[in-house]
Amino acid sequence: MAVVALLALLALVPAAQARPSTSPPGSAAVALTRDALAAFCSSSTSASLGACSLLSQCGTSTTKLYCSTLSLLYALCNYDNPTTDVCTQYQTYCTAKPSACRADGNTAWPAWSNSTVFQNQIYRMCKVHNMEGCEKCTNPASSPSVPITQLANCDSFSVYVAMCRSMPEMTVCNVPWIKMCQSNSSTTKANFPQICPAAAFERSITATPTASAVPAVATTVNLDDASGLPPMRMYFHQDTTGILLFRAWVPCTTGAYVGSCFGVFALSLASSAFHLTATTAGARRELLIAGRAAVVTAQIALSYAAMLVVMSYNVVWCAMLLLGAFTAHVALSRGDENTRRAEWGPVATQERDKSAVDSRISLADEQ
Ligand SMILES: *[C@@H]1O[C@H](CO)[C@@H](O)[C@H](O)[C@H]1NC(C)=O
Ligand SMILES: *[C@@H]1O[C@H](CO)[C@@H](O)[C@H](O)[C@H]1NC(C)=O
Repeated sequence: MAVVALLALLALVPAAQARPSTSPPGSAAVALTRDALAAFCSSSTSASLGACSLLSQCGTSTTKLYCSTLSLLYALCNYDNPTTDVCTQYQTYCTAKPSACRADGNTAWPAWSNSTVFQNQIYRMCKVHNMEGCEKCTNPASSPSVPITQLANCDSFSVYVAMCRSMPEMTVCNVPWIKMCQSNSSTTKANFPQICPAAAFERSITATPTASAVPAVATTVNLDDASGLPPMRMYFHQDTTGILLFRAWVPCTTGAYVGSCFGVFALSLASSAFHLTATTAGARRELLIAGRAAVVTAQIALSYAAMLVVMSYNVVWCAMLLLGAFTAHVALSRGDENTRRAEWGPVATQERDKSAVDSRISLADEQ
């Protein structure tokens, strides 16, 4: 009898404790602490979630735009909705205090998207061109509907943002990145320089892909699927896709790539042929021909290297190239002067005098 009474008492205690939390609306609906969110985000399975990436970029600051705990929870729970106590608690809080969750500064970054979309944009960029950053997110989501539990374990949001920062012209950057950056330009420019550089604000969004337009583009041209301007790697690489001088010349298949290699060879052949006809005059001996060929080839290699340096758009490097060219010409011109002085030295003077005498003789002969 006493045992039954004790069991009944034990069963009543939690019920009595829980009752006040549900009856007066809001009183027990405690907003989640930042520590709880940080704890959730510190687990390795949360690495691919965009809101967790944004949390780490906000750091301890809760005053930066879209950095408040409620704003981050909005992004996490309304876009990704991972099965976690954090979101259950957040939804309970929002049911009790809907106005607090919808208040200014407590909502997600406008144009924010789910983590699958961030990762799928990486997939679309890297499918076309193995650019910088692709190695940080291997096997990204191949479709926007991949559930978050199946996402690649990489920092999707920051990899996507880093790629778009270096290649803002790519169409995959229009949505959501450019849209996010332009959603509140004056404030985001000040608050998120690391996410939205000046270029993101200056660019107008063109050809915003719609849900229906994307698959249509993907079936026609593989390249335009991911980017308006195919990205480039600014270092030596072995990709079989890339721009060959003109925007329209982008080999997409292995056959086209092999063809382009022959095209480049023919270009070089023609270039060298022109160079040879311009420079060789009567060099007959094999050794001399081979030596001259080596010098000319080296000169071509160097001029190509110089051209690639110019393409880095580094102002100082370009200035140094011009300075080098100037120095070389000053030095070589002085060398020319010396040879000319030697030519016009005593021997040359005799030669000149001799020819002058010869011409006078021939003049006299004519008379
Ligand atoms: C992510 O958002 C996109 C676009 O809003 C949607 O099509 C997709 O189904 C979402 N994916 C997941 C896993 O929720
Ligand atoms: C834009 O920035 C202002 C000032 O920081 C902020 O009060 C406002 O909520 C922001 N707008 C949006 C849509 O986030």
